[in-house]
Amino acid sequence: MAGGVTGGAAGTWSDRFEQGLHPFIEAFNASISFDLTLLQEDLDGSIAHARMLAACGVISDAEADQLNQGLETIRREAAEGQFNPGLADEDVHFAVERRLIALLGPVGKKLHTGRSRNDQVGTDLRLWLRRRLDEVDSDLQRLQKALFDQADQHRETLIPGYTHLQRAQPLCLAHHLLAYMEMLQRDRERLRDVRRRVNVCPLGAAALAGTPVPIDRRHTAAALGFEAVYANSLDAVSDRDFCVEFSAAASLVMAHLSRLSEEVIAWASEEFGFVRLTDRCATGSSLMPQKKNPDVPELVRGKCGRVFGHLQALLTMIKGLPLAYNKDFQEDKEALFDAFRTMRDCVEATAILFEEGLEFRVERLNQAVEQDFSNATDVADYLVARGVPFREAYQLVGAVVRRCLDQKCLLRDLDLQAWKELHPAFGPDLHEALAPRAVVAARRSEGGTGFDRVQEQLQLWSDRLK
Ligand code: ARG
Repeated sequence: MAGGVTGGAAGTWSDRFEQGLHPFIEAFNASISFDLTLLQEDLDGSIAHARMLAACGVISDAEADQLNQGLETIRREAAEGQFNPGLADEDVHFAVERRLIALLGPVGKKLHTGRSRNDQVGTDLRLWLRRRLDEVDSDLQRLQKALFDQADQHRETLIPGYTHLQRAQPLCLAHHLLAYMEMLQRDRERLRDVRRRVNVCPLGAAALAGTPVPIDRRHTAAALGFEAVYANSLDAVSDRDFCVEFSAAASLVMAHLSRLSEEVIAWASEEFGFVRLTDRCATGSSLMPQKKNPDVPELVRGKCGRVFGHLQALLTMIKGLPLAYNKDFQEDKEALFDAFRTMRDCVEATAILFEEGLEFRVERLNQAVEQDFSNATDVADYLVARGVPFREAYQLVGAVVRRCLDQKCLLRDLDLQAWKELHPAFGPDLHEALAPRAVVAARRSEGGTGFDRVQEQLQLWSDRLK
């Protein structure tokens, strides 16, 4: 086998090994095809480790400088496409160390002093996730901004509100969109909370028990921007809770995006006709020339399964593991990387969809709320305001709805005379109160869809998103 890190008889391993790996097992064992993703973090962690070793007098400053330069050379080589490790390197950690030794000779062999791949991989993974969490927060904010802009344009537009997907009560469209702002805000808070527990440094736990080398864990932790160090070395190398937490938070992001997608898909249908898809985010059919398909929200909805699946895979990965490190942990990477990438891509795609991929059909929306019985509760509320007990009013309006259905008319088609016969409390202001716009405006309770309330919320969001 082509020379490994330590140059032992069998390649990578110590001289204990006499034979090389079976070629299939070599490939089966390797993570290099996917953990090269951690290259920048591996280099950052190694530079911090080398500096700490020098600060603690374990290696000289000159040696630390050399290691630093060698590691930066590898960074440059990678940027230029000149760092291409193969299966024989097994993983990113060995690949870097091997290249370092090739570049520097004996000094390169000092880097791994007082550390193990077990604390190293945990450090890399946390650094990687911490960076990605910071990036994705602005992606989520961009999506919120896109939703806000739509909401802001539609503070006067109405939309039918549903329960059980049956027409319930008319809403202000901005109110409907702002509901998703709330979900996304909780997502951002959850991811921020995940970040707190990601930001703990396992480096210095070594293989599992700590190290006799006089290291300073606080030194590396501070250099890498970690807020704390793991208190227990066994926990440090075997904690993957943060991967599970992240995937759970990402799953909720996906669930929220999927609900929104489902609405857009329905709204874009002929049956609803509430939105028009622009050419920016829709595709046609290879067969049916009239079609325009909502691929973007469908893909977002469809990709949920991957992220939910990764959460399940990670939980299953950790559930039976004895302390401390087990190779099972190598499975954390693809799950984490794909969960992250899928979520981030879906956030961005949904942001683009709301920025330029759809237009609400204001006329149709405003008309839609005129065509139903979604003001029935308001007739009951009208009576309640005039002293009739709610349940009595409710029964009465139910009977009126039935009569209208028989007569194929709407509530507003009954004249005042007819209403008065049903109950003397009905007066000439009833018809005005039944108009969808009045129905919406009347819902002034805190958190309600009343225009004034929505206006307040838009103001709050506009401040928050600044
Ligand atoms: N590639 C390994 C992983 O992803 C690195 C740690 C290996 N440690 C070990 N003791 N084999 O988990």
